[in-house]
Amino acid sequence: MNYIPDNERYDDRISYRRCGQSGIKLPQISLGLWHNFGGVDMLENGRGILRYAFDHGITHFDLANNYGPPPGSAEENFGVIFKKDFLPYRDELIISTKAGYLMWPGPYGEWGSRKYLLSSLDQSLKRMGLDYVDIFYSHRPDPDTPLEETMMALDHAVRSGKALYAGISNYPAELTKRAATILKQLGTPCLIHQPKYSMFERWVEKGLLDVAEEEGIGVIAFSPLAQGLLTNRYLDGIPDDSRAAKSWGYLKEEQIAPAIEKVKKLNKMAKERGQSLAQMAIAWLLKDRRVTSVLIGASSVAQLKDNLDSGNNLAFSEAELTAIEEILKS
Ligand SMILES: NC(=O)c1ccc[n+]([C@@H]2O[C@H](COP(=O)([O-])OP(=O)(O)OC[C@H]3O[C@@H](n4cnc5c(N)ncnc54)[C@H](OP(=O)(O)O)[C@@H]3O)[C@@H](O)[C@H]2O)c1
Repeated sequence: MNYIPDNERYDDRISYRRCGQSGIKLPQISLGLWHNFGGVDMLENGRGILRYAFDHGITHFDLANNYGPPPGSAEENFGVIFKKDFLPYRDELIISTKAGYLMWPGPYGEWGSRKYLLSSLDQSLKRMGLDYVDIFYSHRPDPDTPLEETMMALDHAVRSGKALYAGISNYPAELTKRAATILKQLGTPCLIHQPKYSMFERWVEKGLLDVAEEEGIGVIAFSPLAQGLLTNRYLDGIPDDSRAAKSWGYLKEEQIAPAIEKVKKLNKMAKERGQSLAQMAIAWLLKDRRVTSVLIGASSVAQLKDNLDSGNNLAFSEAELTAIEEILKS
């Protein structure tokens, strides 16, 4: 059936935040296609999630060359869905991809060389059927390639028109500062940093958020729900259809048990706030204005709907914040 987006998609359904000091605004919740969109997944399920997202004001979809499995299949599937449903709305969308992790054999199939990054971007565009992506990321820092070479490749991607903006992901604070300086000198400012950030993963608070603010770089927090741990998903065991139960899922069974006591306490608190735990986990990240967007995953429309409703209560009292810290330290 032809897809006609909801006419009310921009009527206050979601808020948008400026990405650093750029001209771009991102929805405060964005959708990632790392899991649930690969060759092993049901295309129509992913299609439903993407449609629901766009209908509710989510204008940003995040991909990477290696998302699947198999690697590349999330971009291929996105390309199929994009052509059927979203082609007329290309200018309403921010689509990102990345290169950094292993994609093809041999010395040029991963990390941060110009050779790898630019070849990978060409492959991603072909898989998705796009002329350009909005954001092209260096997916991880490469200890063996000069930072200048990696940043020059991002700059070239932008100058060639194959990407509109440059981003970095998983770069520590000090390296982010250096990368930002190089990109500025090249004339292509760093738009955004994509780090892992959740109640359970807080390294960004030790310097990266400050650097991002100083440099005018936006921050999009990935795995905000700790891959599903910070939801009600695992409160009563490991459901068969969950990420932790799937052989290709990055969340491993052994990660559940050590966290579950904290999850239960957080879940109780969320209930007292009139929220689901997923909603509280998202709201907790959005309380910091340096966080431009929270980059969630979802395996169903129901999960996405739950997460979008986090916008109904973003405020925390001092007492609530202290109680959360105590639970996280327990
Ligand atoms: N830059 C990087 O290195 C990097 C690395 C990882 C991810 N990312 C990006 O970040 C995106 C999000 O990562 P993520 O998928 O790990 O994010 P996440 O939001 O922490 O976890 C998503 C998973 O949590 C569960 N879930 C979501 N909403 C739920 C709800 N309301 N109730 C119950 N369960 C819920 C689902 O698990 P089930 O599948 O079990 O239902 C879903 O697949 C990725 O798609 C990717 O774009 C980037």
